[in-house]
Amino acid sequence: MKVVIVRDKEEMGKRAAALIAEQMRAKPHFVLGLATGSTPLPLYQELIRLNKARKLDFSTTATFNLDEYVGVPPTHNQSYRYFMNKNLFDRINICKAATHVPDGMAKDPDAFCLAYEAMMDDVGGIDYQVLGIGSNGHIAFNEPGSSLASRTRVVALTKNTIKDNSRFFKRIQDVPTKAISMGIGTVLEAERIVMLANGTNKADAVAKALEGPVSVSCPASALQMHPNVTWVITRDAATNLKLEWRR
Ligand code: GLP
Repeated sequence: MKVVIVRDKEEMGKRAAALIAEQMRAKPHFVLGLATGSTPLPLYQELIRLNKARKLDFSTTATFNLDEYVGVPPTHNQSYRYFMNKNLFDRINICKAATHVPDGMAKDPDAFCLAYEAMMDDVGGIDYQVLGIGSNGHIAFNEPGSSLASRTRVVALTKNTIKDNSRFFKRIQDVPTKAISMGIGTVLEAERIVMLANGTNKADAVAKALEGPVSVSCPASALQMHPNVTWVITRDAATNLKLEWRR
């Protein structure tokens, strides 16, 4: 794995955008895997800037998001569909029909998960997957203990994640307890992966994922098995790493 340690989240966004843009320019009909949370926002701002400056075209790009809360409609301001529209899709020249976010209101969620995987297969899989990391080492909503071979499915959120995500809701009781999430096995099938992390609250999880054993206790450690992962992380998220990563 490659680890790029940057000054701040703005630089993190710019570095990650440059990696993605280089691949997008080389391949028409690019398929991007996208993440939510506060971490990828500087990346999305940079992608928007490049698009507005006519340096990056999304007209033939398709996207697949990692996850969505179960029982939260797409119009709800805490749904991941709402987040993606507001922070990226509504601000670039992408065709909305080519943007996919799991349907948290699906009548038959299990059938939906199979169909979501089939849709990704139909377009040839994800070319570049963007990831963030939970403070407990989760990726997408694959909590510690998830199988490293897991596929898109309905998952229960841990108390830790519900607490972390309660900052976006009025009351902790309002935080959904289930989500549809791509599996770790699904994520590992992406051609390339960029993992972003910023803030000292991620330092532990980052160190475990990069330097610990590959283990279900830290889902992000599964990235050690992927041949093409770049970690773009800020100095404060890198504080628990050994010196050799810090050049
Ligand atoms: C949620 C998302 C993850 C994301 C994580 C971290 O749990 N499902 O994909 O990585 O939050 O969020 P943040 O970037 O806000 O710290």
